[in-house]
Amino acid sequence: MRLIEAANYEEMCAKAANIIIFQVKEKTDSVLGLATGSTMMGVYKQLVEDHRQNGTSYRNVRTVNLDEYIGLAPDHPNSYRYYMNQYLFSHIDIPLSQTYIPNGASSDVEAECQRYEQLIESLGGIDLQILGIGRNGHIGFNEPGTPFSVPTHVVELAPSTRQANARFFPSLEEVPRQAITMGIATIMKSRHILLLASGTAKAAIMAKLFEETVTTDVPASVLHTHPNVTVIADQEALSLVP
Ligand code: F6R
Repeated sequence: MRLIEAANYEEMCAKAANIIIFQVKEKTDSVLGLATGSTMMGVYKQLVEDHRQNGTSYRNVRTVNLDEYIGLAPDHPNSYRYYMNQYLFSHIDIPLSQTYIPNGASSDVEAECQRYEQLIESLGGIDLQILGIGRNGHIGFNEPGTPFSVPTHVVELAPSTRQANARFFPSLEEVPRQAITMGIATIMKSRHILLLASGTAKAAIMAKLFEETVTTDVPASVLHTHPNVTVIADQEALSLVP
């Protein structure tokens, strides 16, 4: 696991965007694994900026998102499909038909999980997977206790995760209770993984991550067993790392 330190959120986003841009230029038909959440907003802003200024093209890129809430239609303002269109896809030249997100509105979510797993395989796997980290150490929506061996699956969201995401919804009640997420096994097949962390809210979990104990209690700790992981974190997120 390589650690790149950033002074603040903006610098973390710029460094992450540079890695993504490099990947897309090196391999124009890259498969990018994408995430949502606050951490990624600034990264996508930088990608959009770079696309406008430098013309980096995503015409042949394919994207697969980590997760989606169950029960929200793709056009629901809190769905991750809506987020991705809003912050990234509408502003770059990727055809929407090459952007994939689990369908949380599917009438058969178990079948949807299998379909999604096969889809990733049919794309040839993920070249670069971007991850945020939950305050409880989750990656995707793989909450503490999730076995490392599971592929894409349905999860019950932890109360702390629903609480953390409630800021995007009118009330906590409206935060969905379930989601579809790539499993840890799916994520670990990615050829390169980029984990981003910013702010004091992530300081405690980052300190735990850097204890280097691999345990399902801290899902992100599995990344210690992957050969090609880059962590970019800002000073606040690293403030409790000894
Ligand atoms: C989002 C995702 C989550 C977030 C994590 C951090 O697609 O999979 O694991 O990356 O919850 O969220 P933020 O960035 O909002 O702190």
